[in-house]
Amino acid sequence: MKELHIDIPVQFFALDELSEADVQLIEQAKAMTSTSYSPYSHFCVGAALLLSDGQVFLGSNQENAVYPVGLCAERTAFFAASANAAGVPPVALAIAARNANGFVAQPVTPCGSCRQALLEAEIRFQQPIRILLYGTEGVYVIPSMRALLPLTFDGSDLL
Ligand code: THU
Repeated sequence: MKELHIDIPVQFFALDELSEADVQLIEQAKAMTSTSYSPYSHFCVGAALLLSDGQVFLGSNQENAVYPVGLCAERTAFFAASANAAGVPPVALAIAARNANGFVAQPVTPCGSCRQALLEAEIRFQQPIRILLYGTEGVYVIPSMRALLPLTFDGSDLL
């Protein structure tokens, strides 16, 4: 028997250590928490997805009385980008989240479904998506969606 250990590279930055462009994307994600429709969880998530041509698509979580019908902020932004800027690769995604006490101290990470959806874009465009996760204590920077979803299942497994 052999055991595999898979490392996930996570950099932890103070906001003032990040580039102006990264801070701006994070600010857009933070602002989007105010458009969250989350009467059930009261958890407001915002996402800002930067494309390779400089366009930014924004999203927030959208809930429904039939709970599974709702959608996370990340996929709301990603599907809007994919529908409105078809063929343009995403290159960075900022995520911010707020609960009743304000912005979370420890960053929130994307759920499994969002990882799977965004990983497919990485594979399709052969371009990593940097992930910027905002918390009041600092920002996690992860180099790619693949890093967040090791032992991936993708289209190549269907062949
Ligand atoms: N949510 C997101 O939008 N993104 C995440 O990364 C984590 C969770 C939403 C889904 C649901 O509306 C609420 O947060 C509580 O799970």
